[in-house]
Parts: sequence; C-alpha cells; structure tokens
Amino acid sequence: MAASMVEQGEDAFRKLFKFYKRRNPPPDFSDVIDFSKKAGNELVYAAELKHGSVSEEAAFRAGLQPVKEWRAFGLHGYPGFLFISNPFLPGSQHYWVKQCLKTYTQKPNVCNLDMHMSPAETENIWEKSVGSFRKKGQREPRTLLEKLRWVTLGYHYNWDTKTYSPDHYTPFPEDLHSLSHKVAAACGFPGFKAEAGILNYYRSDSSLGIHVDESELDHTRPLLSFSFGQTAVFLLGGTKRQDPPTAMFMRSGDIMVMSGSSRLLYHAVPCIVPAPAGHPLPSCLEQHVDKDELNDGIIQTVCEKDWEVCSTYLQTSRINMTVRQVLGPGQSFPVTHSQTVTVKEQSRSGYEEETQMAKKRKSETGYDLDS
Ligand code: OGA
Ligand code: MN
Repeated sequence: MAASMVEQGEDAFRKLFKFYKRRNPPPDFSDVIDFSKKAGNELVYAAELKHGSVSEEAAFRAGLQPVKEWRAFGLHGYPGFLFISNPFLPGSQHYWVKQCLKTYTQKPNVCNLDMHMSPAETENIWEKSVGSFRKKGQREPRTLLEKLRWVTLGYHYNWDTKTYSPDHYTPFPEDLHSLSHKVAAACGFPGFKAEAGILNYYRSDSSLGIHVDESELDHTRPLLSFSFGQTAVFLLGGTKRQDPPTAMFMRSGDIMVMSGSSRLLYHAVPCIVPAPAGHPLPSCLEQHVDKDELNDGIIQTVCEKDWEVCSTYLQTSRINMTVRQVLGPGQSFPVTHSQTVTVKEQSRSGYEEETQMAKKRKSETGYDLDS
C-alpha cells in the first residue's frame, strides 16, 4: 500500500502524511525504515563519525556512550543527513526528559500556554501539574503538562513572522548546549553553538505538519533533533514540498542531524506509533543509573519521585528537542525597520495578537498543520 503511494506525483508528501496519520484502520508500517533493526534497507549505509573529536570522558559526562560505539547511519540520496541510533548511556535519557518537563518549562522560556494565559498562570507548570498526575485514574481536567505543546529556548522563535530576533533572547540552557556541542562535533561540526531550541511535546494523537526549518540565518550549521519517549514516524522529503518522502521510525534516544544539502529538506511527523501491548515505555527508559559518578558531569540522576511523573507522562507522549545555531561565526541580525516595528507591536499588544499563531499550531504540535 505505502509503496504505491511513494510514486513521484504532485502530492506525494501529503498523501504519505495522511497515510501514516490515519487511525482506522491503522497504517501498515512495513515500509518505515527501522534503524534499530539489524536487517538493512537498501537506502541505509553505516556512517563514519569523528571518533577523536569527543573524548570518552566528555561523552560520559554528557551521558553518552563513547563515540566509537555509536551506531550512525546515512541515507542514500540524502547527503548531510545522519541518524544516530540511541547513543545515550542507560538511564541518562531520564535527565533530558526531566529537564524538558520540569526545568525548561520554567520562565523565562516561552511555551504555547503563554499565548493565551497570563505569566502567573503559566509559572511552575510542573508543580501545578504533578499533584493530579500522581492521582491516577481520576477524571480531572487536563493538567498544564498535558496541554503543553512547545517550548522555545534561546532566540525564541516567532511563529507569526517565522523569524528569530535579537530582542527576544534568553540564555540558552548550558546543559543542552553542552550535549549539542558534543553531538555536532562527533558529526564533523566542531564549534557548534546552540542558540535556539524548539521543544515539541507530542501526545498520542499529535502530528507535526510538512515544513522546512529555514529561519536560521546560517544554513551551513546542522540542525540537531533528539527524541524521547514514544516512537514517531518521521518523513524526510525533498527540496520541494510535494517531493515523495522517506519514512523512518524515531525511537527514544535517537538523534537526527540535518546538515549540508539535507539541512533545508521538507519533513514532517505524521503520527506517534501506539506502544506495543504490555510495553507502555520503551525498554531503554526502564534502565536506571544507580551510580553517583554521572553526577560529576552535565547530567544529574533524576529522583524516583520525579521519574514517576516523567514516566507516566511518557507512556502517552513523545518529547522532541530540536537545537539550532541561528548565526554563523561573526554574523549578526540584520536590523530592518519592519523588524523593529514587528517587535514593538508584539510586546505592546501581548497575548491576543499571539493567539493567532498559537491557533496555527492549535492543540496539535504543528507548524501550520495540514491534513
Ligand atoms: C521541528 C521538527 C521533528 C520531530 O521541531 O522543527 O521538525 O521529530 N521536529 O519532532
Ligand atoms: Mn523541523
């Protein structure tokens, strides 16, 4: 079924997007590339990484396996695209999940809830949610954590103007910068600066529409994408919106790098794959670190109480962190009159105006989600 839809055609991407988004009957996933499986796909080849660029010690301190152990792949026809199959040390994904839910949701970071709620209402999203999260089985209104769709970090992406601005910047988290810097170096991009982040929070029925990430001013820098929790189908297309895409699973811990001529390709996430019966969480998330040694590095062990909330959340969710370098070395934002006006308008009119762009991403995680 899927194969017949991959033919070159005006709407090949849209068709495949709808195919995987369908719920009833569930789609056939047999054409989706699975990098976690040994059996190869003719499009897939093993990619070489820069083993010497990150020491074992530095990798360990970031919660990563030694780079020489990473299973990295390329895809024929997509130069610059790299897929790293879960290089995290057992237990260390917990830290990033906790950061995404408990730490990065805090001010001054911006989230979708800020678009229609006051700063006081969106303060301490974690604390406001965990109470009812622990009382499982009770029919209660959805918590803020369950309503969370995106968080922006560093240069905060403006969904309306599709731009970053020097006037809307807050310090990028050190820990995520450090992780990104190491992953980029291992992929042949030393000196990567994490300047903007978009964190996506997917519930089991969420999807992310067909788009290109082109708002960054320097496209020679890679875009990094980290996945945690439930598996998603990722569609990687071409330079034109209608080009037929290749489908692949993104599992917990997987890292994707879009660089070179793959940096500006169309892509989308049509669906979250239902967890297999009896396995609400991927097995790599069941592993814990009981050693304190990790705490000397970037990542800290997550206490049991916090992990209980995170794991309950992840049973029906996927978290994706995308990290971008916005400016090239020595580059700065062009200052234009229209930009100055846009920024002033936005800060003056506050929430109402921003609701429009929030509507675009609606309750779904999605840039103008089309379906
Ligand atoms: C994005 C994006 C993909 C994903 O945030 O730009 O494409 O895997 N995310 O969620
Ligand atoms: Mn994207």
